[in-house]
Amino acid sequence: MLSSKVQEALNRQVNAELYSSYLYLSMAAHLEAENMRGMAQWMRVQSGEETTHGMKIYDYIIERGGSVTLTRIDAPKTNWASPVELFEDAYAHEQKVTAMINGLMDLVIAEKDHAGHDFLEWFVAEQVEEESAALAIVEQLKLVGDSGVGLYMIDRQLGQRSPSAPAAE
Ligand code: FEO
Repeated sequence: MLSSKVQEALNRQVNAELYSSYLYLSMAAHLEAENMRGMAQWMRVQSGEETTHGMKIYDYIIERGGSVTLTRIDAPKTNWASPVELFEDAYAHEQKVTAMINGLMDLVIAEKDHAGHDFLEWFVAEQVEEESAALAIVEQLKLVGDSGVGLYMIDRQLGQRSPSAPAAE
């Protein structure tokens, strides 16, 4: 059985993961409009992953005999000045999500919820990958600057991502 504090925090995290999905879909839509089809594909896959994260927590709440309560998802930003600004936002967002996961971990430890600790370990490891993938793209984009050829190459590379393919390189 989940404590009410843990249940509330997990429900907040479901909302945060679904917001992440919505934010990355908004980024994908912006990139489509800018003809960065490969980057848009990368973000579209990322959006799908975030929905999977939300559902993983949703299923866990139910498995533990808790109640899922869905709340309003905020509207995401819709416009970015450049691909580098967009991926910097994605990286900053992942850092925020990491802080939320760490906060959840602190809570289950305080509540002596061992099953919760075991469940959240997957998310702790996932956040290392999520931050690393976003940061690698930011660094590549900074490296090429305004070079059209460089942006074209990065766009092509990121377009290779599929739901079963890795997020970086
Ligand atoms: Fe579900 Fe990108 O964190």
